[in-house]
Amino acid sequence: MSQLIIPYMLKPHILPPLTKSLSEAPEKDLPGEERRNQHVFYRYEWIHGHNPNIISFILTMNAEPLMQKTERTDLSDSVREELMNRYRTVRSFTEELTSPLETEDYVIQVAEHTSPAKWHLAHTSWFFETFLLAKEKPGYQSLHPQYSYLFNSYYLQTGVPHCRARRGNISRPTVREVFEYRASVDRHVLELIEQSNKDRFSDIASIIKIGLNHEQQHQELLLTDLKFMFAQNPLYPVYRKAERPRIHSIPEHDWISFDEGIYHVGHSGNGFGYDNEFPRHKTYLHSFQIASRLVTNGEYMEFIEDGGYDEPRWWLEEGYSAVGKEGWESPLYWTRKEGEWHYFTLGGLEKVDPGEPVCHVSYFEADAFARWAGCRLPTEQEWEIAAGDFTGEGNFVEKGYRQPMALRTSGAGANQMYGDVWEWTGSPYTPYPGYEPLPGALGEYNGKFMCNQYVLRGGSCATSRAHIRRTYRNFFYPDKRWQFMGIRLAR
Ligand SMILES: [Fe+2]
Repeated sequence: MSQLIIPYMLKPHILPPLTKSLSEAPEKDLPGEERRNQHVFYRYEWIHGHNPNIISFILTMNAEPLMQKTERTDLSDSVREELMNRYRTVRSFTEELTSPLETEDYVIQVAEHTSPAKWHLAHTSWFFETFLLAKEKPGYQSLHPQYSYLFNSYYLQTGVPHCRARRGNISRPTVREVFEYRASVDRHVLELIEQSNKDRFSDIASIIKIGLNHEQQHQELLLTDLKFMFAQNPLYPVYRKAERPRIHSIPEHDWISFDEGIYHVGHSGNGFGYDNEFPRHKTYLHSFQIASRLVTNGEYMEFIEDGGYDEPRWWLEEGYSAVGKEGWESPLYWTRKEGEWHYFTLGGLEKVDPGEPVCHVSYFEADAFARWAGCRLPTEQEWEIAAGDFTGEGNFVEKGYRQPMALRTSGAGANQMYGDVWEWTGSPYTPYPGYEPLPGALGEYNGKFMCNQYVLRGGSCATSRAHIRRTYRNFFYPDKRWQFMGIRLAR
């Protein structure tokens, strides 16, 4: 007997014999339907026709993961209003993040892996236009027929995108026109929420929730891309000053122990999750220890002063090549000034605070530091087990510091798991057993990047609190440093 748990949106295209019966049967007639906490689960059993030895198969269709399924009979104004409010909140926060910018700041692209602020503003609107309005709003027309080309990122099933490296070459549409584009998309989306009939509402709500989570990812990219751009400027422009509390004495580094055994990891189906967090599954872990806090700047300075960047034995071959090729001798944004380390922050150039978590290091640097320290990076499974449930606490973008903060007091268990910095894990970004991408072009969101990248966990000081969760899997190439990326040790 096998069991599959699949998100509702992945309607059963994976199992041809079942596809027909599910799509034809009205939901209320499905056998084995169970209701728990307002979520609907369907359970099916059937005899496999071709091989009597494979007796049965249970499919649990979980209606929750990609959307809070709205009961069609219960659709009320408050349900619509809640979604509209959430939409307005997320969309307006993106614009709030751009409020310190001058017009010139919106347009520049200083590296292929970063995008201009103007592009982020437009692309997040394109997402709603492409995956929602074009499908759900009869007769919908974009403000410009070429926006679908200019502001597509990488969704090849929706059309050929404009060249990523040349996003900064585009002066038109102007910044003003991009804001008009956003306003137009907002009007249409809000209208759609208000006017959609009950039958379409849950599908529409599902796409909007993906679109809002997508927008939150771009809010973080917007900040990190702006930081990267400003850092190229010898004037070290200030995005926004935000005084953060300074901690002069941080808790001692300690180890939290976990026994070997079988653990469950992955999304349980309660609340929103991306397809790459599914399905929840069992994993075997050997006994391990994880650090009680993040690695600090002060500890990383010891690695530098010990000649860490010059010593090949700490480095993966590819990492040591990157050190030579890129001239790395410290984390990104660090510079020596009058004999002291300084770093560029979104509040300008500052003296490095030794108690704050080290940030803007590549996977290669994190791995080399861990080896130098006689440790290793945790696997993503170890991280997830050690993290405990997310309570909403942490240094996230809402705090407004936009810089990781030193640990003030040490609680029981692992501290600083959420917020401050994305934590590199030693796990390559690969599909979970039984992973199924979303159907259609949205299937390009995550699955096609499962090659040569590493998983990071926990969110950062540039992540929205409402965007993170215990099972969230971020991923970047091992040489990338411009996100707020840091280090936690394991052994
Ligand atoms: Fe995107």
